[in-house]
Amino acid sequence: MLRNVLWITATVVLAAAAGLYPSWASRQNEKAAARGRIPDVGFSATPHDVVAKMLKLAEVRRDDLVYDLGCGDGRLVVAAAKQYGCRAVGYDIDPDCVERARRNVKHSGVDDLVRIKQADIFALDLSQADVILLYLLPDLNIRLTPQLEKLKPGARIVSHEFGMGVVEPDLVVEHVSAEDNRPHAIFFWTAPLKKK
Ligand SMILES: C[S@@+](CC[C@H](N)C(=O)[O-])C[C@H]1O[C@@H](n2cnc3c(N)ncnc32)[C@H](O)[C@@H]1O
Repeated sequence: MLRNVLWITATVVLAAAAGLYPSWASRQNEKAAARGRIPDVGFSATPHDVVAKMLKLAEVRRDDLVYDLGCGDGRLVVAAAKQYGCRAVGYDIDPDCVERARRNVKHSGVDDLVRIKQADIFALDLSQADVILLYLLPDLNIRLTPQLEKLKPGARIVSHEFGMGVVEPDLVVEHVSAEDNRPHAIFFWTAPLKKK
């Protein structure tokens, strides 16, 4: 009996908290969605000179909020904060990447500007972002399209290596990295997205 009363009380309190604090509720949803999920693609790092090129293409400004969807070791969000002084959030589903990225942020001295969150990128609300950075896979970029279609007008998306199906890029450039001597494609879009 007492257990039932405690259970009901806890449920009511949590439901009330979720209603009163929607951002708290959405954070809990993001965490729940991320828990136990296998990454849709494994960690592979963008060379640093390609990162610099991506940020330049996005014309990142100090007052921008930059997201890296699948942030790996956090190099893109760290570079954005260091070079442009903007706020940035790196999301990753893999707890090892999250830990590594958080260490990188701390070590780079940008913890006042950068947050690393464990979350499934497909459960995120992207409406606050000014710049979205991607290095995923073509089918994952396509899967993200419904979320990217809700970006505010003028928001920029930059993807290392892969396009987004029928969504027409504004620009595609190639950069030969000094790190691996390989050409890297960089795709650029601005919101609202345009379909071919
Ligand atoms: C190719 S790596 C890119 C890392 C980093 N953005 C870069 O360019 O150096 C892709 C990252 O996406 C993460 N990832 C895969 N599926 C994910 C998902 N559904 N939600 C969040 N992160 C995911 C992986 O753990 C991995 O770290």
